[in-house]
Amino acid sequence: MAHRFDSPAERIIVPLDVPDTESARRLIDGIPEVTFWKVGLELFVSSGPEILTYLKAQGKRIFLDLKFHDIPNTMAGACRAAGRYGVDLVTVHATAGLTALQAAVEGAAAAQMTVPNLIAVTVLTSIDARSLAFDLKVPLELSDYALQMALLSQQAGLAGSVCSPHEAELLRRCCGEDWLLICPGVRPEWAQAGDQRRIMTPSDAIAAGANYLVIGRPITQANEPDIAFQRICDELASA
Ligand code: C5P
Repeated sequence: MAHRFDSPAERIIVPLDVPDTESARRLIDGIPEVTFWKVGLELFVSSGPEILTYLKAQGKRIFLDLKFHDIPNTMAGACRAAGRYGVDLVTVHATAGLTALQAAVEGAAAAQMTVPNLIAVTVLTSIDARSLAFDLKVPLELSDYALQMALLSQQAGLAGSVCSPHEAELLRRCCGEDWLLICPGVRPEWAQAGDQRRIMTPSDAIAAGANYLVIGRPITQANEPDIAFQRICDELASA
């Protein structure tokens, strides 16, 4: 059964791309309408679990985007520990391999507080066709490689993939309706692309099959972040 959402706001995950707890709390308090926040490596390394405790206390959902990539035993332990914080989504790298992905699933299932949905990164968006072929020596097209990594993650029992909205249609078709697709690289028409290259508008990304959109700077760097967030929600509602 496909995932259901009560409102467009639930589908937008805003990244806390800030260096410390204080700035993160300012951002969270400044846009109370946002219900789902992403904590990445910089903030987690700097603030530790403190920021997760704060988000939980505010009743927010948490995407812990630490992109684990390690041997099976370590992957299992990291996912079990993530579950102790009560986070909703956790990322791992599909390229860690089948046994490490399976161990991650077992670790998450043994978590005491929540069983987080494990989502695998297929290919980092910073990897282009040239670096895939010449640096990483992978003899596949980018989109085919992303699909193979999604299928491997599915075989291991994960819940979904992080992917570019440009791969969402292919992954939705090949991985089925239940497979969660989380897409960064999303820009409303009125926002600047910044360093994102292969962008898509929020409504096009949802139409392509994305369940969740990770949208940062168009909201967090706006003069009025709450209004920018609402504008995206309104655009999704009328699409
Ligand atoms: O500000 P912007 O909307 O570009 O932020 C996108 C967020 O999604 C950032 O936190 C970025 O690190 C993350 N991300 C990404 N591409 C990926 C995986 C994560 O842009 N493949």
